[in-house]
Amino acid sequence: MKIITIGNNKGGTGKTTITTHIGVALSKLNHRVLVIDNDSQCNATSLLLSGVNFKYSMYDFLTDPVGSDKEYEVSTPFPNLYCLPNVVDTSGLSLEFTKTYPNSLFIMKLALEKIQEKYDYILIDCPPTLDIPMSMALCASNAVIIPVEVGSLHSIDGLDKCLDLIEAMQELNPQLTFLKLVMNRADKRTSISKIMIDEIKRNYKGEYFETIISVCTALQQAEYLRKTLYEYSQTHVSLKLYKQLAKEVITLLPSKGE
Ligand SMILES: Nc1ncnc2c1ncn2[C@@H]1O[C@H](COP(=O)(O)OP(=O)(O)O)[C@@H](O)[C@H]1O
Ligand SMILES: [Mg+2]
Repeated sequence: MKIITIGNNKGGTGKTTITTHIGVALSKLNHRVLVIDNDSQCNATSLLLSGVNFKYSMYDFLTDPVGSDKEYEVSTPFPNLYCLPNVVDTSGLSLEFTKTYPNSLFIMKLALEKIQEKYDYILIDCPPTLDIPMSMALCASNAVIIPVEVGSLHSIDGLDKCLDLIEAMQELNPQLTFLKLVMNRADKRTSISKIMIDEIKRNYKGEYFETIISVCTALQQAEYLRKTLYEYSQTHVSLKLYKQLAKEVITLLPSKGE
């Protein structure tokens, strides 16, 4: 079982899209996968569980870390893929936690211990800040993937800040590693995309996934319908990229038989 945080403190770099789509891809490659929506904006919940009623959420999961055996995880339209949904109310929890518990950063790790053995991969989709929710995810994770939007310099600034946070969190969680960054929204038609890809390849040698995710307008159309691309356009060429990315994750971070 492997737990992977997907984070970048810049918004809109593709964290939620990449988490949900490699989640589906990993599940289609016969892995049992849980996507945790760790962002109280609930975007991953909306993509994976649109129209689904759920009883419990991250709020209950975090406020009852050692308690009862509730079914927190909800089935998605994809076999093998489950989602731990979020609700807006969770946004108020961070402050409450830091006031109440001295080890508040470890609450997610503790809560996950109850359910993690059911899965091969747990993917944690983080909010666009480096605050408590992201730190809690890092304390619970084995690895971090950082999506970078090629075409946005701010996205690279976010990458460097994330790397600093990972380094700081390794003191609390020595098993945490930076897996790789993933370049997202590459657009062959624009020179800025090419310039940034070349720059990343030069400056972050060995630290990026070979798979580069192209810009794909169908993703936004799917999102408008609160669906993943898998449901919107089952043969879309971009789906191959998510599958390829998922295979890279499996190679770098094998989960079965461990
Ligand atoms: N490869 C892509 N091509 C086009 N649009 C994309 C791509 N990846 C993500 N998006 C869109 O960009 C927006 C931000 O992506 P999202 O995954 O929500 O970012 P984050 O979770 O980092 O804030 C969404 O509307 C999403 O559909
Ligand atoms: Mg998001």
